Amino acid sequence: KLEPKKKKKKKKKKQQEDAAPVEENEEPQMSQEEKDKIADAAAEAATPFGINDAMVTPATRLDFGDYQCNAAMGLAKNVGMSPRDCATKIVDGLRPIIGDIMEEPEIAGPGFINLRFKKEYLEKSVQGMAKDPERLSVPVVGNKKKIVVDFSSPNIAKEMHVGHLRSTIIGDTLSNVLEFSGHDVVRLNHVGDWGTQFGMLVEHLRDEFPAALNKETSQNVDLGDLVTLYKAAKQRFDKDDDFKVRSREGVVKLQAGDAEALAAWESLCAASRVEYQKIYDALNIKGLEERGESFYNPFLNGVIDDLEKQELAVESDGATAVFLDGYTNRDGSPLPMLVRKSDGGFNYATTDLAAIRHRTEFDDGEKADRVLYVTDAGQSQHFEMVFAAAKKAGFLPETVSLEHVPFGLVQGEDGKKFATRSGDTVKLRDLLDEAVRIAGEDVRSRREDPEAELPDDVKEVVKTVGIGAVKYADLSMNRESNYKFSYERMLSLNGNTAPYMLYAYARICGIVRKATGQEEGQSVQWPEPADIVITDEAETQLIRNLVKLPDVLSEVENDLYPNRLCDYLFETSQMFNKFYEACSVNNAETEEIKASRLSLCTVTAGTIRLLMGLLGIKVVERL
Ligand code: ARG
Repeated sequence: KLEPKKKKKKKKKKQQEDAAPVEENEEPQMSQEEKDKIADAAAEAATPFGINDAMVTPATRLDFGDYQCNAAMGLAKNVGMSPRDCATKIVDGLRPIIGDIMEEPEIAGPGFINLRFKKEYLEKSVQGMAKDPERLSVPVVGNKKKIVVDFSSPNIAKEMHVGHLRSTIIGDTLSNVLEFSGHDVVRLNHVGDWGTQFGMLVEHLRDEFPAALNKETSQNVDLGDLVTLYKAAKQRFDKDDDFKVRSREGVVKLQAGDAEALAAWESLCAASRVEYQKIYDALNIKGLEERGESFYNPFLNGVIDDLEKQELAVESDGATAVFLDGYTNRDGSPLPMLVRKSDGGFNYATTDLAAIRHRTEFDDGEKADRVLYVTDAGQSQHFEMVFAAAKKAGFLPETVSLEHVPFGLVQGEDGKKFATRSGDTVKLRDLLDEAVRIAGEDVRSRREDPEAELPDDVKEVVKTVGIGAVKYADLSMNRESNYKFSYERMLSLNGNTAPYMLYAYARICGIVRKATGQEEGQSVQWPEPADIVITDEAETQLIRNLVKLPDVLSEVENDLYPNRLCDYLFETSQMFNKFYEACSVNNAETEEIKASRLSLCTVTAGTIRLLMGLLGIKVVERL
């Protein structure tokens, strides 16, 4: 945000409340130096009023300009002046500083100051982007952080469900954005691979798959469908008392490191891993490191000891629990956060406390500055309590930020539970295959011979479109809202969808090919960056949008809402369409204007390619 340097946080909040509501945070690209200068000037201009704090913020609407300063509205009250006079004073202070960048400020309404980039400044900025095709002038962050992103995290021997799909897609995108900004990102898969249910599973394997208990053979035993296996084990557990007793003993054996129990557990993990990998391959997820709950076993006793020493953990109905201020049950009684069960087993929260220490505190851990947890919103309270307890216990350095990144539910088209027609849970593999199948059918129906097999290269494109559609549909929603899963909508060519964006990209490729006489079959050669000359209002609007890119990315880096990327992509392609309608590329008035417009095509295409890449979707040059 554009604000004076060395300014107190509290004041900023106050200022924002006084000013008109800032709904969107869109900030065109300027160097940090320029931003600081303008912010300082606004602050200085406001100093005579006794407040060293006039915020300049991104304009909430394009017709308000590129920036706005609403400080006069709040200041006026304090100094007994009209907001308009107050605004005039601030403008006087701003004018000499912003002269090279902005037009003469406009005072709108009672005292809002609107700031608008100069044409020359826009030309220069977008030209800079054209010269930097890799980063499009997006700076690498100055304060590089170590960031752990905990995402995907399915549970062994259970179905990976659509919530895990969301976590995987959102977590991957956030990791990509943070990495592109220049941070050191560690992607951790906190797989649920430990817990009491493994006693029951191990004992079931002992009876049904004896080879799984042998270390030599355990990894290669065909356990069949794991969900069926889990159901069978559970059924025995519920019906058969002897089996129940054995299962309880099985957990103890496993925890004690019994070789057979461990081998059986390993075979379950190995079989699950094969299943997960199929999904990760289909989604093209890379660099996700498995660091399951079992990894933290050695640290659990230490967590309890330290909590007890500080008297944070206390006995509660035979179990051990942490009580935190402000957390109560519905009836008002204090809500325990369980860290050790009455049978000595540990809880979900205990592992997460150990994981925090390992990720932030321990020397041989990640020493992360920021840890993100991408899970469904249903776990919000769990994370709130875990974070609060960890802070209280001093399990992490004070500067570290722990952030839960919650997301809503995926619902069926009828708004009810997302399930197959017969009411079963949807298998992720089937879901992704179905999206690809529909995309393929669509492509085939538009070919000369709709019955014929698609050529391999077209099949690849179909996969990109189908999987891309699923990803984009998810990422384009505000992650905190629930959304209705609809193949029809996500595969539609109209609206904010992957197919729309992929077509938009391919279309620009076509425009550039045609204007430069390139053959269809080869990959596009992007023209050399040219001097930008704005000749039409549609160009101005497109460029005003393009130069916002760095700020859109830093917004996602801070607020972690991937839909901001999709919204921006959609806006950009709409601006491009208006530009292309108004300004001919091929028949431009002069060669200079043609070259300038080709550069705008190149920067727009580069923006789409970059952002789609961050969303985990590869663009194609022909569809
Ligand atoms: N396995 C959990 C689930 O399926 C998600 C784990 C999230 N990460 C964590 N550190 N608790 O809901």
